Amino acid sequence: MTTKQIYDLAIKLGIASDLRGLERVKKYLVRLKSQYEDSSKNAQAEFDLEKLTNPYSDSRLLVDNGKKQIKKVLAGIDMEGAELLLAKQLGDIDLVIAHHPQGPALADLSDVMKLQAQVLADYGLPINIAESVIKPRLAEVSRDISPINHDQFVDIAKILGLDFMCVHTPADNLGARFLVNLIAAKTKELETVGDIMDLLKTIPEYKEAMKRKTGPMIFAGSSERSCGKIVVTEFTGGTNGSKDIYEKMSQYGFGTIIGMHMIEEHRKEAEKHHINVVIAGHMASDSLGMNLFLDELEKQGIEVVPVSGLIRVKRFKR
Ligand SMILES: [Fe+2]
Repeated sequence: MTTKQIYDLAIKLGIASDLRGLERVKKYLVRLKSQYEDSSKNAQAEFDLEKLTNPYSDSRLLVDNGKKQIKKVLAGIDMEGAELLLAKQLGDIDLVIAHHPQGPALADLSDVMKLQAQVLADYGLPINIAESVIKPRLAEVSRDISPINHDQFVDIAKILGLDFMCVHTPADNLGARFLVNLIAAKTKELETVGDIMDLLKTIPEYKEAMKRKTGPMIFAGSSERSCGKIVVTEFTGGTNGSKDIYEKMSQYGFGTIIGMHMIEEHRKEAEKHHINVVIAGHMASDSLGMNLFLDELEKQGIEVVPVSGLIRVKRFKR
């Protein structure tokens, strides 16, 4: 496979596992295309054409040197200067794959957060409420990210001659879909928050994270509390949503949130509104999604070297 083919595969897998459903994502792309076509020449010149085929603003092919065949990749959660130098030092790395966004994918992270509103709506929160609560948070994230040196590591990859990409929401979608399917299959066995914890601990990435003292934790509620309606709402869609959403979740019958990570301000709000929160763990959750993607590369004969917090678990046998 070439770097471009690997990137295209990541986007394809992300769309196929998107919690909004394939049809909704297709409709979103069609709507965006017509908006682009109806816009002025100046607006068209400024438009990121990548958005017409890739609905994930936080995932981009950052450097492509046009290599014919990718044989070995260095993959990790945060791929920065040290990891890029490591790739060069190893000598036979063709491509570096980061999970967390870099370059333009980092600068435009907030755009992908629109996904969160639809996921909340699919769980029963009216879409008008979800969109109106999330909108100011989108602008806030955009402003927060704006002063960062977005291209710092992309510049290093260019000088080192390394192909470089980041696969964020597509991988998180794969992880979220995996959990949603698992919860659906085990729904009759899940009565308490403790039952959810037990289920998460059967997943190899979380088992390993527990050994590393970074396994799943109950952030709000307690193990004996009834879980009520379980929602996977804080697992994909860029970064933390709005702290004002927990009150609405409570009003619309949400019981327990499963998330990757949660800041204290949000945790307090969730607790105040009687929502249980199970935080599966950041690196292990990021690893779950990345592993499901990286398995597809290994199936194509590409060797994967894990680094930077990636807990590599393979789910296929040759
Ligand atoms: Fe992450």
